[in-house]
Amino acid sequence: MQYLSWEDLEQACRNCQRCALADTRHNVVFGVGPRDAEVMCIGEGPGENEDLQGLPFVGRAGQLLDEMLELIDLSRERNVYIANIVKCRPPQNRDPLNTEQDACIEYLRAQVALIRPKIIVCLGRIAACRLIREDFRITREHGQWLQRSGVWMTAVFHPAAILRDPSKRPDTFLDMKSIQDKIRQVCAHTY
Ligand code: URA
Repeated sequence: MQYLSWEDLEQACRNCQRCALADTRHNVVFGVGPRDAEVMCIGEGPGENEDLQGLPFVGRAGQLLDEMLELIDLSRERNVYIANIVKCRPPQNRDPLNTEQDACIEYLRAQVALIRPKIIVCLGRIAACRLIREDFRITREHGQWLQRSGVWMTAVFHPAAILRDPSKRPDTFLDMKSIQDKIRQVCAHTY
C-alpha cells in the first residue's frame, strides 16, 4: 500500500487493527518531530506512559533520550523525528513479536519515505535487528555505520538499557559524538 500524504498515513495508522495490540492500546503512538527532519531515531515500541499520552519516549527513558540528543544539538522540537518499530504498546512491555513488527513495519517505512532522512539511529537491539540486520549484536556493533539506499544507519544502546546499566554511558557518549560527526558530513543544516 502506498501512502501519498501524511494525513492518509496517520489516519490509517490510528484506525489500524492489523494485530492484537490494537485491542489493548489506549493510543496509537504515531511519532513526533518535524516532518522534514534529517535525522530519525527509532525505538522498539511504546511503554505505559507513551501508550497513555500517545507520544513516543515520554517516560524516564524518554527523558534520557532527550538529554542524549541535546548533547549534540538535536531535539524533537527542532530537528529529529522519533518513532518506533511498533506503534501500539505490547502488554507488560514485552518485546514486540515478529508478527506484530511485520504488521506494523509498513507504517514506519512510509514515514521514512515521506521524511527522507539522511541518518537513521536505531535505539536498541530490537530496532537494530529489524532495520539493520537480523542478527545485529548491539553490544559489539553499536556505533558502527552502514549506508543503505543512500541513508546512513547506526545503532546506540536503548536509553532504558542505559538506565539499567550506567556503565553503558561512556560508549553512548562516543556514539552520540559519532552521530554529530556524521551530521556534519552529510546534513545540509548546521546544527
Ligand atoms: N521505549 C521505546 O522503545 N519506545 C518508546 O516510545 C518508549 C520507550
